[in-house]
Parts: sequence; C-alpha cells; structure tokens
Amino acid sequence: MSIQDRDKVRQEVISGLTNNPPHISPKYLYDELGSRLFSAITALPEYYPTRTEAEILKRRSAEIKSTIGTTSTLIDLGAGDGEKAATLFEPFDINQYVAVDISAEFLQASLRNLQSRYPHIKMIAVAQDFSHTLHLPPEAVNEPSLVFYPGSSIGNFNPTHALAFLQQVHRACQNGHLLIGVDLVKPADILERAYDDALQVTAAFNRNILRHVNKLAQTNFNIHEWRHIALFNADESRVEMHLEATQETTVTWPNGQRQFSAGERIHTENSYKWQIEAFTAMLKQAGFKDSCYWTDNKHWFAVFLAKA
Ligand code: AVI
Repeated sequence: MSIQDRDKVRQEVISGLTNNPPHISPKYLYDELGSRLFSAITALPEYYPTRTEAEILKRRSAEIKSTIGTTSTLIDLGAGDGEKAATLFEPFDINQYVAVDISAEFLQASLRNLQSRYPHIKMIAVAQDFSHTLHLPPEAVNEPSLVFYPGSSIGNFNPTHALAFLQQVHRACQNGHLLIGVDLVKPADILERAYDDALQVTAAFNRNILRHVNKLAQTNFNIHEWRHIALFNADESRVEMHLEATQETTVTWPNGQRQFSAGERIHTENSYKWQIEAFTAMLKQAGFKDSCYWTDNKHWFAVFLAKA
C-alpha cells in the first residue's frame, strides 16, 4: 500500500471513530485473521447461510443449468479460494473461470490450486474492488457468461448501494445471467444466534476489527474493554453488529483521541435480510429479466437466477 493510500485509510478510520454515532467500515473485518475467522463462522451450526446455499445449489444444479441454457464462462465475484464456484464447474460445464477479488496475491494462489485440479478450464484472475466499479476483461464477456455472487454478500450493502451494485453487474454481464445468493428475513432469535454463536467465533471476528484498526490507524483500543453485540433491527430488516464499551475508556491516536462512555457502541456491520418479493423487484429495477429463485424447505435462504 502506498503512503497516500495508508493516509487515506487512516483518515477514513479516524473520521468513522469521531462520528456520532461512531462506526468502522466492515471492510476492515477482513485482515488475514479476520478472513480465517469468517471461514470458521461458515462452519458453525448457528450460521446457516453457507450450508443452506450449498445445499440449494447442489440439489437444484440441473434445473438451474437447464434454465440458463448454454454458458461456458463463470465469473465469480468475491471468489476467495474459489471453492464455492468449483462446485459448479462440472454441473454447469464451465470451460472458462474468471475469479474477481480484491487481493491479487490470494487470487493467484487460489487459481494455482484450482488449475491443478481442473487443468481443462481456462482461468483468469481479476484483482479488483468490484463493490464500486466492475471492469471485466473482454474475453470474460464475449460469450454468454454466468456471474456468480454467492453467500448473501449483497446483504452487506444497504438497499441503495445494493441496487447500484446490481445495475453495474447488469451492465457488465450483457447477454449473460446472474446467479446470486440472498439471505431471507426470518425470526429474530434465529438471526441473532447466527451472528452471536455459542463458541463466540463471531464475537472474535467482530472484536478483531479493533486489532486491525490499531494497526491501520495507530489507535490504542484495548480489546478487553469491548464486547460483541449482534441484534436484528426489524425496521431496517438487518442484523447489526456493534462493539460496546464495557467501561468508560479513552482511545487515542497520533494527534487525536475520543472518549467512550460505558455502554457506548461502535457500529461495525449491517447484514440486510430480504423478502423474496422485494429482491425480485430490485433485480427488475436493476435491468434484469425473467428472474426466478430456489429456496430451502424452511425458506431461510434463496438463490436467484436472472437474465441480463
Ligand atoms: C460476508 N457476509 C455475507 C457475512 C454476513 O452474514 O453478513 C459476514 C458476517 N458477519 C458476521 N457473520 C458473518
């Protein structure tokens, strides 16, 4: 990271901390340890989204494939290690895989691993923060492609940003399809347990943001003084994560400080939960046609398919 970029990050973090109410951008949840903790979250019994989505995709892959028709290119937004997308390679007869993610190094390593297991598939790495702008190489879009955005990552955008994001995906995947995983509204106790598990892995994931921020902005958060809060805000249809000060404390950084009273909260993440009708309407508004969806038998999670 250049000195200018580092300064920008520091300023962004400090501006969030001095805001009222204070917040830290959820993107700072994902340093190396945070990414590992998130991976552990996906294995927790309380965190149903990952396994429910995987079950839907496995059970419905033939139907999804026949609805799409011919596709040979899979464009994976937020590819990570690419393992979710790899489950689609065979059922969907993929011969070109375009993996898009922020970290170039991680992406290269993931593709090296996948390439050795799937030597017949052409693999292209695109290192990009696609949450704001998505530019795909021409070879990725010159044939009908399937854009894959799993995991209900769309839930981490507010509805305005989610619409803008879908519009951008629509522009990028002309004459292809979008396959997207969306977490649905359900009783608050199930949602809150998914974000406040018994092993406290999610608590560690949330509190780790302070460790990361201490590095990024030279703050001196004492992690012991902050506790994890997860609550379902029904009016906004979102699970919110916060960090709450357990005692009065002062956090300092070069040339500044902020005092927090006991019980004061820093907002760290929103995870929006959608109703089928509202998500269908948003896909249409973004320019997609003929959307359909598959869900599990509890109607906890949905996989939508829509034509660009
Ligand atoms: C990455 N994202 C879809 C997760 C979610 O469910 O919003 C992040 C997460 N936060 C806490 N647990 C998982």
